[in-house]
Parts: sequence; C-alpha cells; structure tokens
Amino acid sequence: MVWISAKWLFLFLSSSHIALVTCTITTTKSPSSSKATYIVQIDKWAKPALFVDHFQWYSSMVKSAVASQPAEVEEDDDEDRIIYTYHTAFHGLAAHLTKEEMERLKEKNGVMAVFPETKYQLHTTRSPLFLGLQNKYGMNVWSDKVSQSNVVIGVLDTGIWPESPSFNDTGMTAIPNHWKGKCDVGRGFESRHCNRKIVGARVFYKGYEAASGRINEQEEFKSPRDQDGHGTHTAATVAGTPTPGANLFGYAYGTAQGMAPGARVAAYKVCWTGGCFSSDILSAVDQAVADGVNILSISLGGGISSYYRDSLAIATFGAMEKGVFVSCSAGNGGPEPVSLTNVSPWITTVGASTMDRDFPATVKLGTGRVFTGTSLYQGRAILSKEAKYSMVYFGSNSTSPTPSSLCLEGTLDRHSVAGKIVICDRGISPRVQKGQVVKEAGGIGMILCNTDVNGEELVADSHLIPAVAVGETVGKLIKNYASTRKATATLQFLGTKTGIRPSPVVAAFSSRGPNFLSLEILKPDFVAPGVNILAAWTGDLGPSSLPTDRRRTKFNILSGTSMSCPHVSGIAALLKASHPDWSAAAIKSALMTTSYVHDNTMNPLRDASTGQPSTPFDHGAGHVNPVKALNPGLVYDIEAQDYFDFLCAQGLTTSELAVFAKFANRKCRQFFADPGGLNYPALSAVFPENANTSVITLRRTVTNVGRSGSNYHVVVSPFKGVAVKVEPPRLSFTQRHQKLSYKVTFISRSRQTEPEFGQLIWQNKAHMVRSPIVITWLTPFS
Ligand SMILES: *[C@@H]1O[C@H](CO)[C@@H](O)[C@H](O)[C@H]1NC(C)=O
Ligand SMILES: *[C@@H]1O[C@H](CO)[C@@H](O)[C@H](O)[C@H]1NC(C)=O
Ligand SMILES: *[C@@H]1O[C@H](CO)[C@@H](O)[C@H](O)[C@H]1NC(C)=O
Repeated sequence: MVWISAKWLFLFLSSSHIALVTCTITTTKSPSSSKATYIVQIDKWAKPALFVDHFQWYSSMVKSAVASQPAEVEEDDDEDRIIYTYHTAFHGLAAHLTKEEMERLKEKNGVMAVFPETKYQLHTTRSPLFLGLQNKYGMNVWSDKVSQSNVVIGVLDTGIWPESPSFNDTGMTAIPNHWKGKCDVGRGFESRHCNRKIVGARVFYKGYEAASGRINEQEEFKSPRDQDGHGTHTAATVAGTPTPGANLFGYAYGTAQGMAPGARVAAYKVCWTGGCFSSDILSAVDQAVADGVNILSISLGGGISSYYRDSLAIATFGAMEKGVFVSCSAGNGGPEPVSLTNVSPWITTVGASTMDRDFPATVKLGTGRVFTGTSLYQGRAILSKEAKYSMVYFGSNSTSPTPSSLCLEGTLDRHSVAGKIVICDRGISPRVQKGQVVKEAGGIGMILCNTDVNGEELVADSHLIPAVAVGETVGKLIKNYASTRKATATLQFLGTKTGIRPSPVVAAFSSRGPNFLSLEILKPDFVAPGVNILAAWTGDLGPSSLPTDRRRTKFNILSGTSMSCPHVSGIAALLKASHPDWSAAAIKSALMTTSYVHDNTMNPLRDASTGQPSTPFDHGAGHVNPVKALNPGLVYDIEAQDYFDFLCAQGLTTSELAVFAKFANRKCRQFFADPGGLNYPALSAVFPENANTSVITLRRTVTNVGRSGSNYHVVVSPFKGVAVKVEPPRLSFTQRHQKLSYKVTFISRSRQTEPEFGQLIWQNKAHMVRSPIVITWLTPFS
C-alpha cells in the first residue's frame, strides 16, 4: 500500500492536468448484494447448436445465472443485465451482476474468465520538423497523401471537438471502402460533424454508467463531443490537417499538423468525467477492429498485475491478431523505476521526451541575478522590468515540502501573500492550480520550483497569474535568497525559443522500466516528443483545464506520455501507408531499430530527472526516427502465434492462456523456453538467482526488407559481466523478404549488482539495424 500511495504522489507530481494522470487502477468493489459490472470472456466455439446466435446463448447463460437467485423481487429486466457483447477482438459480454450471480455464471460451460470492471485514467507545431518529417521550407518528406488516406487511426480517448481546424477535410478524397465505422449522434454532435477526416465517432458509456450512475446530460456531452480537450489534442497529433498560424497566446506559433496529415481518424470516446472503464474500453477496441481501423492509439492506462487479468492486454492481443498496430502511452509514473503500464510485447509502449523548443521566462532577483525557467503565461512583461516585488516562501531548505510550501488549496494566508510573488514547490496538486491558489490569496506572481523528483525538467503551463517554472538547482538558490530580508524579484516572459540544446531529453515523468511482468522484454519500446506539445483543443474548457479558467483557445500545449503515444500512432500510419504489406510487428521493429540514442549535442541521451545519461529502462531503443524507419533494412517480424508462445514461456496456466487462445484455438508450440526467445527487436538476458546458469542463448530471425544482395556484419558493445558471441557474425541476403536467423550467446563472467546496457548492430553501408541489450543478474531480492 505504501508503494501504491508513493506512486500516486509521483503521478500528481508529474502532471499539471489531472487528465494526464495515468496508471491508476481501482477495482469496483461492492457488497455482495449490490451489482457490479463483470467482463465475461466466453469460448465462442462452445456455443451449443440449439442457440441461433451468440447473443441468444449469452442471454440464456446470464438469465439462468440470475434466475437461480433466491426468489427476490427483481425489477429490472434480465436483458438489461448484459451491457455489452464482444465479437471481434474479444469474445464474450459485460454484465451487471451481483457477486453470487457472477460466481454462478463463472461455472457455466464456455465461460473462460471473468474480470471485474476496472477504472483506467488518461495518462504539436514543431514535432514534424523535429522528427524530420518536414524540411525547413515546410515540405513534407512524405507528400504521399493518397496512400495515407487509406489508413484509419482509432483514437480511444475523451472524444473529439469537430470544429477544430485540425479536422478540416477540405481536399480529402472519399472515405476508403474498407471502412465500416459510423458516427454516433447526441447532444452537441450531429452526423454532419463527421467528415472525410473524422470518419468515425462513437461513444462507450454503459460500463461507466453502471459503475457511476447515469451521466448528467446537462453537464456532460453524452456524445462524441470532447469536453476535456485530451481526445481532441491526441487525435490532432495523430492526423491533424495542417493549420497555419496555430499558437497558444502567441507561443509555439506555426503550422500545426498531425504526424499523418493525410490519414483519417475515428474517435472512440471511452473516458468520461469520472474516468474510463475497462468494459467500455474493451467494447471500443472490439468495435474499432470491426470498423476496420489500421492503427489504435490509446493514451490511457491502468495498473497491471498480469497479462491475463489486464483486459486491455487481452483486447489488444485480439487487435494484433487482426493486423492492427497498437500504440499506448507508457504512463507518467517516472522517474520512479518499474512504473510502466501497457507492457505487453504486442503493444508499442511509448515514453516521452523533449523537443528542441522551449518557452523561456526569467526570474530577476533583487541582487540582479537572473535565472531562466519556463512559462506559457499570456503576456510578455506583466511584471515590469524595473519594479521589484516582495517574495515569500512557506518552506525551508532543511525540510521536505509542506502543504503551504506546495501552495495547496486553503494553505495560503492572505495577509502574508497579498501583493507578493509566492514560491511554490512542485508536487501533489496540479501545477496551474497552485497559481490559482496564489491568485485567490491575493498574490501577484508565482515561482514554481522543482524538487528532487523532477530535477531540472521544465514543463510549461498556461498559468492564470504571472508564473515561472524553474529547476531544482535554481529553485534552491532562489529560496535561499528569499529567506533573506527584503528579498524581491521580477518576472519576465520571453516567448518561444527553438534550437534548445541538449534535446531530446527523456522527460522526468516518463514511466520507467524494467518491465516487471517480463524482464526479458525491454520496455518502454522507445521515446517520442511528449513535452510542451501544441495541438488542437476543445472549445469547452480553458487551456489550464481549471473550471475557473474562462479563456478559450483553439490550441493548447500539453505534456505527458499521452502526447508521445499519438505521435507514434501517426508515424505508424505513415509506415503503413508506405508499406501496406508490413505487419504491426514489422512497423514496430522498423521504429525500434532505427531509433537514435544521441541528442543534438552528439552526447548520449539524457534523463531530465538526473541530468545523467538515460538507459534503455528510460528510453527503450532510443528516440523515434521516422524517416530512417521508412527504410530499416531488416525487420524482426513476429506472428500472433509467436506472441502466444511467449505467453506459454511465461508459465501461464492453460486456463490463463485460454483467454488469448480464443480465435485460432492456439496451442503452445514450445518454441522457446525463455520468454526472451520472442523475436523482439531488443535483447534482454536475465541470469537467474541460481548462479549455476552462466550461459544464455537468445535466437533471432531478421527479414530483409531492403535490397536483394544485402550483406550485414554484426557489432556488439563490450560488457563487464559477460562475454557475447554472435553466430553467424555475417548475414548475406540474396533476396528481398528472405529470413535469416542468428543466435547470441551471453556467457556470465562476473555477476554484476546493477544491470548492464549495450547494443547489437547489424550494419552495412546503407543501414544500421540497432537493438538495445540489457543484462540483468537477479539477486534473491530482485
Ligand atoms: C477548411 O479549409 C479550407 C481550405 O483551407 C478553408 O477554405 C475553409 O474555410 C476551412 N473550413 C473551416 C470550417 O474552417
Ligand atoms: C539554507 O539557507 C540558508 C540561508 O537561509 C543558507 O545559508 C544555507 O546554506 C542553505 N542550506 C542549503 C543546504 O542550501
Ligand atoms: C549448482 O551446481 C552445483 C554443482 O554442480 C550443484 O550441486 C547444485 O545443486 C546446483 N544448484 C542448483 C540450484 O541447481
């Protein structure tokens, strides 16, 4: 429990918008007499012939589970108990049942697993240029809009704001024939709101209503319309139409466009004011796959305890089987280790990093010293250069943050704050809310200081009062000065600056490995831009997301792995458009093996929380490099059965495996005993506690997607604790699509207490196919 609450703390510390808080899980518990939603997975092949269809069979099962209840007056119709049936990515139903009814249903023939309803929460102008998708004249590297237009990306989120210029469909061709999606109508959303850009918009709220009561339609749009802004921001990042002159209060001015501006989006609204529920998410994945999405973009997450209990893992396994590429946010639980969500190997797990753009603002102390921080405050020099304002801090440099040093609601005394600049520690409450608290207490400005949790990472916010965010080191200096008599300061806002070095840097909030479900699968897969991203915004909420914020903007700047995930979804759409024959695993492999691990100062990527070089547990394979990914040379392909064999190697029981086996009636082939044997584009060798295992061999197969007649040789980095041998050391491909295998043998020479990191590269003049390597020696305590 302590660990859980510590995690909550980190989540809040790292996010300004409550909506960005990710990876929390709450099981909906209820006394045995009351009902809750259960997701029931059913073996579709077990349907007795006497039922005409699955729905009839499911109804009969549920009816009989309900009917055997002691004669109790049941007002509601039994049909109402079933809130969803699932047919595509997942088979079964979601029903509103008492615990006893659920227990009885569990015993029915054909029922494979029952999951309690769980609650998930939600976890760009410059990014195309930064990612090399545009040259400096604004030309797209991939101008091939025609092939992009066949790709549909399903975005599971808070809905969409259709009036945003980012969803203008002028000039787009007719919707592809394979698309079967539709648009749900409701308050604020009519069928005319869908167009050739927004090709689908659906709502999923039955699980939410079953758990939280009916949606108040006066207060909340029970339609695809996005009240929160998060879904509009992510959908626009994926495939927004180029919109010149986009900005937030003049910041980040430029042409905003999605990663795949020619592709289509379908919004699946699964998140409501009270959260996102697993039965709704499952239904949305199921429907999206049936609708014909090519890519799924899921910027939300929940806690995970196992593959077979995570309904998102199960649903996305079904999507993967249908060839859908699934991109998910890694979570905002960093820099705490082991904070990742969405770690299944068939999911692409995306961490967040900075771009080379910043919004500098300065704090000038009464002594004349000037420190630089960041801000999106609307106004260039609201606090005049000459005037000096008293400064106050309600903490000390010898104790940890206190409620008033954190500027939590109700902790600031008007008498000591009025007319002053208040120093607030980052953490616990949303960053913009601290400014609101200072404002309400009569303060005229805020200096927001990082603590050791965030280090030097600067996240810009559209504060409601003049406010500057500074790093931990500068924060300490300012606090020391503030404790002297008559301390004063002024704040200045300098607008947008690009070319920031070093960049990219791994964001402090980006969730970290290792992957505790499977150490053998390195996660996250890679990082992508997720700090200070400008994209479209809802017309229903101010940019700070505070209810008191009356400002309305077409665009907003947000940070989180929620922002990095849709970058990758859009890039995957570009790869899919260029290579329609590539599998989802091939696309992921191309993105991983071409990622880079150096910043724009040519030094190894760094971690914003420490300022030190980051490791593959922070950045995975590195920073995504879309242009290189277009032509990776070799790919590590993986078929659905391979992922299933991976689950077999994880030691899942037959009934646990059955939840994944549903369609193809899969059986374990015993292809590899070590889960590290999955043909993943990263290598993780795990030496068990038992020191007797001193040799680990991992096999891989690469497919030539480059020219025929390509030759590669291997380069492996040196390690302290192991000797590495690769056989064969050369690969010669005579044809395209030819597959060749190799094996890597790790021989432990001396057990290390810390994991060792390195890389394996297959290279020739044209390509560098790079895989990160992690070597872990388990100790009895790890
Ligand atoms: C959509 O874009 C076109 C072309 O840029 C423009 O003429 C039109 O006014 C836009 N429509 C809306 C609703 O903004
Ligand atoms: C704490 O602040 C005082 C000034 O108030 C300063 O002299 C001292 O060096 C500071 N200590 C640390 C550890 O920064
Ligand atoms: C390790 O090897 C030694 C010597 O071969 C053997 O006696 C011991 O039982 C082995 N330990 C385990 C846990 O297998």
